[in-house]
Amino acid sequence: DLVRPFAAGIDGASGGVDPAGVVSERRLSDLRGLFRDAAALERAVGEGDEVVYRVVAAPVPEVEGEVPFSVTTIEAGRVGDEFYMTRGHAHPEPQGEVYFGLSGRGVLLMYDGEEVRWVEIRPGVAGYIPPGWAHRTANVGGEPFRFLAVYPGSAGHDYAIVAEGGMGARVVRSAAGYEVVEEPGGAG
Ligand code: 6PG
Ligand code: NI
Repeated sequence: DLVRPFAAGIDGASGGVDPAGVVSERRLSDLRGLFRDAAALERAVGEGDEVVYRVVAAPVPEVEGEVPFSVTTIEAGRVGDEFYMTRGHAHPEPQGEVYFGLSGRGVLLMYDGEEVRWVEIRPGVAGYIPPGWAHRTANVGGEPFRFLAVYPGSAGHDYAIVAEGGMGARVVRSAAGYEVVEEPGGAG
C-alpha cells in the first residue's frame, strides 16, 4: 500500500523525525573491518562500545514509487586517525540519492569502483549521489553531524560492496582538520 500524505518534523538539533518509522543504531562493534586501525577499534569497543551513528527514518516503505527519507546523526569521534563514519553502501538498482546538511560538518565520500569523489556537507548544503556510486559519510567536526537523506524506495542497499571493496579513500585527521586520503586497491 502507498502511504497517505503527511508532514514530518525534522529536528536538526536532535536528529529527530516526527512521526518516525524505523530507528537504527550502529555501535563501534558493528563497524568491525571498516576502519583501518583494527586494534584501536577493539580498544574502543572494550571501553564502552559507543554508538557511532543513529538513523531515524520517516514512516515511508522501501518499495517502488515511494520516496523514503531519513535523518542520520554521526557522533564526533575517531578510531585512530579516522573519523567516525557510516558503514557505507551502494544502491544496487542503481538509483540516485540526495543528502541535505542539518547540523555539524561532514564529508560525503563517493566511489564508483574507480574514481573517488567527495563533497563537504554543512547545514544548507545538498550533496548529490549519482546512480551507481557507493557512498559513506564521516563526521569531520567536533559536534554531531546530521543530514537528511532522500532516495527512491526501490533502490535497495548493498553493504557487501563496501565491506569487501572499500570506498577507495579514507577520511582522516590532518593538521588542517581533515583530509581525504585515496587508497589504491580499495579495502584495507
Ligand atoms: C540511505 C542513505 C542513508 C544511510 C545512513 C546510514 O540510502 O538510506 O544513504 O540514510 O543509510 O546514513 O548509512 P549506512 O546505511 O551506510 O549504514
Ligand atoms: Ni544511500
